Amino acid sequence: MKKIINELSVFLSGNNQSRTIIFIHGFPYDHLMWKEQVEEFSKDYLCVSYDIRGLGSSPVGDGQFTVESFVDDLEKIIEELKTNKPILCGLSMGGYISLRALERMQETFSAVILCDTKSEADNNEGKLKRAAGIKRINEEGLAPFAKEFISNCFGDDFKQNRKEELQKIIGKSSQFNPVGVKGCLFAMLSRTDTTTSLSSIKIPTLIICGEQDSLTPPPVMRDMFHRISKADFAEIPKAGHMTPIENPQLVNKTIRDFLVKNNL
Ligand code: MLT
Repeated sequence: MKKIINELSVFLSGNNQSRTIIFIHGFPYDHLMWKEQVEEFSKDYLCVSYDIRGLGSSPVGDGQFTVESFVDDLEKIIEELKTNKPILCGLSMGGYISLRALERMQETFSAVILCDTKSEADNNEGKLKRAAGIKRINEEGLAPFAKEFISNCFGDDFKQNRKEELQKIIGKSSQFNPVGVKGCLFAMLSRTDTTTSLSSIKIPTLIICGEQDSLTPPPVMRDMFHRISKADFAEIPKAGHMTPIENPQLVNKTIRDFLVKNNL
């Protein structure tokens, strides 16, 4: 079922009476990034996924976003759905949003799953890379940027063996509104560093990282794991930055084991 909440496209699937898992996608994708997880977990949870403002079918508005405003959107969704203690699950940019949401309202959630993400803000090199991306989109349109960025997100196995799927993902994201994509780049460029608050995370936390993730590599995510008191860490072999798409079976099993272990 699709709902519009605070102007955003929000998708609900599963049992209304069950605990909720909120899935927040990465950049530059949409809620369907979590298709395999929603299919699996809607059997016994209420799965909520949504298109982040500016991406997919959610509106672009003036294209001026911050991670702070993305957390405001998340808060509105939770308020509107009146969901009690949801589990938060974010990948990469969705993880940046989750980590800031934990700083603002950890008590709202029962657990958090952080996939292929990091707590550090962009350093100068990272900020300049974002700026070059925005310039490239302005000069060449979205497609060449999307092709290069998305290709770098996937591990070698996926790129070699699932070429058609990769082309489909690139084709879809290339159709997004460039204003929204640039707005997200700006939001990520200007996000705060959440590293010092990792030690304040007290809810059960699962950290998932692709073995070949070049954007948020295993050592970076292992460091996060060591800073969080109740955390589990799982490395997904042969996967890159998009673990839920690259190895959905293992990612789903890892999430399932974590939920069972924590009685969620
Ligand atoms: C993502 O997957 O959301 C992006 O790679 C995050 C980023 O560019 O920092």
